[in-house]
Amino acid sequence: MANNEMVVASLAKVLTDFKPEEISMKLETPKSSEMGDLAFPTFTLAKVLHQAPQQIAIDIVTKINQTGFEKVVAIGPYVNFFLDKPVTSGKILRLILKEQSHFGSNTDGNGNNVTIDMSSPNIAKPMSMGHLRSTVIGNALANITAKNGYVPVKINHLGDWGTQFGKLIYAYKTWGSETEVKADPIATLLRYYVEFHEKAKNDDTLNDAGRAWFKKLEDGDSEAHQLWQWFRAESLKEFTAIYDRLDITFDSFNGEAFYNDKMDKVVDALEEKNLLVSSQGAKIVDLSAINASLTPAMIKRSDGATLYMTRDLAAAVYRKETYHFSKSLYVVGGEQREHFVQMKAVLSLMGFPWADDIEHISFGLITFNGKKMSTRKGDVVLLKDVLDDAHELALKQIQEKNPALENKNIVAEQVGAGAVVFHDLMNDRTNNFDFNLEEVVRFEGDTGPYVQYTNARAKSILRKSGVTIVDNNLNLDDVATWDIVTILNSFPETVQRAWQQREASIIAKYALNLSRAFNRYYANSKILTNDQQLNARLALVQSVSIVLSESLRLLGVKSPEEM
Ligand code: ARG
Repeated sequence: MANNEMVVASLAKVLTDFKPEEISMKLETPKSSEMGDLAFPTFTLAKVLHQAPQQIAIDIVTKINQTGFEKVVAIGPYVNFFLDKPVTSGKILRLILKEQSHFGSNTDGNGNNVTIDMSSPNIAKPMSMGHLRSTVIGNALANITAKNGYVPVKINHLGDWGTQFGKLIYAYKTWGSETEVKADPIATLLRYYVEFHEKAKNDDTLNDAGRAWFKKLEDGDSEAHQLWQWFRAESLKEFTAIYDRLDITFDSFNGEAFYNDKMDKVVDALEEKNLLVSSQGAKIVDLSAINASLTPAMIKRSDGATLYMTRDLAAAVYRKETYHFSKSLYVVGGEQREHFVQMKAVLSLMGFPWADDIEHISFGLITFNGKKMSTRKGDVVLLKDVLDDAHELALKQIQEKNPALENKNIVAEQVGAGAVVFHDLMNDRTNNFDFNLEEVVRFEGDTGPYVQYTNARAKSILRKSGVTIVDNNLNLDDVATWDIVTILNSFPETVQRAWQQREASIIAKYALNLSRAFNRYYANSKILTNDQQLNARLALVQSVSIVLSESLRLLGVKSPEEM
């Protein structure tokens, strides 16, 4: 950061025995702004210099060149730097106006690929709120990786293979009808699937019949294959409607079935390395050498059918060979933790050093008004319904607040969908959380609409001013703006932290923080007074809007001009 560099440079002139990097590493941000903007602790120098830390701090302050700072003072064993507020704000505003939406970008990723396995819903089942999490977290992480100089590859690993398709084909053939499916594909297929499980409770032969149909499918039976393809196409249509609504795209829709002809290679390699063990007719890989508490990974069932794991192993190898990823992320719920630990363990045993670059980006459960959901029982909350309801709630508020607004429906969609996405991303991803739509779509409080509203307010001030902002005279000397300036200053490091911790919530919390600071300022100050500082104040408003828009974009949330 520019400010850190300035502090490091001035310290380096005094502490000639220390490298600038060493000095930089020690810098801290004081807990309260009354203690300054940056602090340099002297404890560790005490040992080297054989002096009391307090004395070292005092000595540094007498020797240091104070230009560029409001003041530099010794407080106990710390040297505390108070940045020159007008100069610092001028610097950051000039930078943001120059870089616009590129502000905060870095080249840390060196153009390396990062594959992101995300969304990955299951064919013939509705996309649930659970898949929403994977979709929006994955999408935000993709935007954040790009901002950090990587190239994201978004992969939708569709659940389009597995024993459930045998069950579904059996159900369809036994009590289904083509007209029914055509009329309402996913809902009907889900109903068949639920019925299958109800009937199978009292009649175990159904499960055998389902397995037999899956075996046929795997062996290339043409009737089974045709039905499968039809179910898949109908499902994808419904998924695509939701992705379009969220404005989320993918680089690949290679689902589980894509790896059907790529599994032999993996199974052969396991065989060759003597890693496959027979166990009650099934083929497994023993993982106790990696971790004694790990259960073995099942590679082939006793009837020869391959498994979720086998397809994931083939997919991992394919991704490395195709994309040469530097990191490979899997945005999947916490309930699959063990699966990914096993997968990495198998790949390590196979001798792939890149197994270490695989990361399970786990996330918590969503309950809906306190209730859990289960596809098997059929009590799912449909994402489409959630988005529709969110749209309605947003529209209601817009009609109250801004009845004259044009394009109300477009804005209501941006606000409704944005609210749902923002709420999902605002919590640390591993937390479980409850979803209450009324709260999520509020225009006040910790919500997406609050950030969008703040941004729209900033844009409206700029429109009203009628002033063209120039990039000189940007040094603000109004202390009321200092909070905002400090937050703007921390955007680049926030972008880095969000990637390092794989946490989109860091960006969401940042956007809330900036919004709050801006609204405090707006409530207490006259921005549009025609005085010498008008240009600088408008540059501040514009910078806030640039950074809020960019934060929302990273999260996959739209920024309406007005709402
Ligand atoms: N389709 C799976 C499910 O809904 C998620 C797939 C996650 N990705 C993967 N490569 N295993 O549970």
